[in-house]
Amino acid sequence: AAERTARYKREAAEAAVERFFQAGMRVGLGTGSTAAFVVRALAARRERGLLLDVLGVPTSLATEALARELRVPLTTLDAHPVLDVTIDGADEVAPELSVIKGGGGALLREKIVAQASRRVVIVADVAKLSPRLGTHWPVPVEVLPFGWRSQQRFLEALGARVTPRSRADGSPFHTDQGNLVLDCAFGPIDTPVSLAARLDSRAGVVGHGLFLGLVTDLVVAGPSGVEHRVA
Ligand code: A5P
Repeated sequence: AAERTARYKREAAEAAVERFFQAGMRVGLGTGSTAAFVVRALAARRERGLLLDVLGVPTSLATEALARELRVPLTTLDAHPVLDVTIDGADEVAPELSVIKGGGGALLREKIVAQASRRVVIVADVAKLSPRLGTHWPVPVEVLPFGWRSQQRFLEALGARVTPRSRADGSPFHTDQGNLVLDCAFGPIDTPVSLAARLDSRAGVVGHGLFLGLVTDLVVAGPSGVEHRVA
């Protein structure tokens, strides 16, 4: 099953690179195992002499390291504040192409890069599809370490079961910005827009994994092949 999932992720990533990356573009490079297939597919095209002038903006230190290893040229959002397209993974995808991201902890940079992109393409295996956000996946909330327990109380008051994210060795997980992640299990979320507004207006919350109205395209792969959907 894990092998099949990896194959679907790779198929979705390769189809999206084929369809959306074109010569001369400035592109956002997502984070996670599916997005890594995107970086690999871009590198493979470059080896064949294609897309040589494409520049990428990585959404995490991990993606930056992978891109450097594969000799994919990088730039920054400061040098190119508007990107043509970003291709990134997601954890849960609802029918209207609202998504939950941040399983890999890169949610804040991913959202900054997505909101700077003309087109935001999510690549996913079919198991990520969900009738409603929150059904299968908690909402990751990135909080400043200062006063984080008060954020936990706030999130619990909003109805979440909150799990501070930790690493395999039990130590707290820190984002690339040095913040903490609180994984917030809400169950199926009826009104994601108002939840996002509550989170966005809370001091100390620096980001959250609800991506609403940002995604323009979905490329999803499963047993019946690869499908492209538009928001
Ligand atoms: C990273 O912070 C996340 O938003 C990823 O995009 C998400 O976790 C998808 O990961 P996989 O592609 O590894 O399933």
